[in-house]
Amino acid sequence: MSLESTLFRRIMSQFPTGVTVVTTRVGDYLHGSTVNSFTSVSLEPMLVLVCLDKKGDTHELLLKSGIFAVNILAQEQEGMSRLFATKGEGHSHNLDQVAYRLGVTGAPILEGCLAYLDCVVAHRFPGGDHTIFIGEVVDGALIREAPPLVFFRGKYVRLLESP
Ligand SMILES: Cc1cc2nc3c(=O)[nH]c(=O)nc-3n(C[C@H](O)[C@H](O)[C@H](O)COP(=O)(O)O)c2cc1C
Repeated sequence: MSLESTLFRRIMSQFPTGVTVVTTRVGDYLHGSTVNSFTSVSLEPMLVLVCLDKKGDTHELLLKSGIFAVNILAQEQEGMSRLFATKGEGHSHNLDQVAYRLGVTGAPILEGCLAYLDCVVAHRFPGGDHTIFIGEVVDGALIREAPPLVFFRGKYVRLLESP
């Protein structure tokens, strides 16, 4: 069976996800990019994964730094998601336009996120045009309770409260 890549994308878009910004630090340079391929992997030890496009800058930076933070975005942080998903107009995904503090690993924790996990890269696996980065969680916190940012069918949507 041959599946067109556009159909593959549309099928995957039926699966709603939360939205994160994965941040890292190489020397004094701080960087972030929007990522929804985030999932938990193991409880003991605590492991999570993100899949990063080999062509993206974040991929190269994570290879160098060996650390990353996953910042889980709130509904009102759509602007932040767009900022770290698109390049151009002088913006290269550095953290000049956002408020943050540095976590235990040195990766930036973004202000306003719902929760975060601070990780050290434990394993890397090939994943076609992406690399699967497995992070061992060394720190994390719940920051606040608020509706999450949700991505579905290629759009940001609101999560309906159950009746
Ligand atoms: C909702 C959303 C989710 C995304 N998830 C991923 C992802 O899981 N992995 C990835 O490599 N790119 C993902 N992207 C695309 C990157 O955010 C985008 O290509 C970005 O420009 C990469 O930046 P970089 O070159 O600084 O790494 C996503 C984009 C959006 C809008």
